[in-house]
Amino acid sequence: NGVRVKVPASTANLGPGFDTLGMALSLYAWIEMKPAQTTSFHLYGDNLKGLPADKSNLIYKVAQSVFAEAGESLLELEISMYSDIPLTRGLGSSASAIVGALFAANQLIGSPLSKAKLFDMATALEHHPDNVGASLYGGIITAVWDGIHAESLRIEPPVDLGVLVAIPDFQLSTTKAREVLPKQVSLSDAVYNVSRASLLTAALASGRLDLISQCMSDRLHQPYRASLVPGMSRILEEATDHGAIGIALSGAGPTLLALADQRISAGTELEQFLLSVLGEHNITAKTLWLK
Ligand code: HSE
Repeated sequence: NGVRVKVPASTANLGPGFDTLGMALSLYAWIEMKPAQTTSFHLYGDNLKGLPADKSNLIYKVAQSVFAEAGESLLELEISMYSDIPLTRGLGSSASAIVGALFAANQLIGSPLSKAKLFDMATALEHHPDNVGASLYGGIITAVWDGIHAESLRIEPPVDLGVLVAIPDFQLSTTKAREVLPKQVSLSDAVYNVSRASLLTAALASGRLDLISQCMSDRLHQPYRASLVPGMSRILEEATDHGAIGIALSGAGPTLLALADQRISAGTELEQFLLSVLGEHNITAKTLWLK
């Protein structure tokens, strides 16, 4: 009588697509939900340490919002969760928790809400559609949000696309990483990003990995966030000399996302480059190759 869902992590922005582009990553969280007499929580693994195990828990609150939206009376729940997604690193851990909670709660009551509705609800909680869209639909997504409705289209990731993340061992809150952004940008910076995000989307959709290095740069958020991740500026400038076809801050950081063409580069040099630049700034990090 319970449900279990597996939800992917995600990377947002992919450089120029601020609050627009997202990609699901092969790193997962699992959520199990069962109706119960009284609400209880089982949170497993280091990544969930310190999260509330009472009714202030995000999973619980999101589930109740699904029941309310569907006109069901609120249920007491036994909630279990395990996650391989490190928290507050720019890998969409909160988005995956939100999407998993929405999906599981909806399934528990017979799936009265559509996936599109769950996307709207998830985006309203996150205030941007890129991470939740990728966690909900998988693959690469390009999304828009008008403040109420979110819409997206899924792109199948090119088969030869290699995805490397370097995850620093410190946390950076999205709130903090958004506070450093300017309220206004110049027309030339806007054009810089619109043109690159558009070409990047088209290149990914048509498997043109050769075009990625020309369009995976950004002037809307990364330059302002560089001071929050020591070593990032140099990594963004030089990673393509070490085998990356593209390099970006993953979401709001501090994780860095490097793309590689698996036909060309084995990627060992790239991993060493990322770790050594971060190491020069006394940041320990771990690298993972994901799909
Ligand atoms: N697009 C969002 C940002 C992602 O860059 O702030 C945050 O996870």
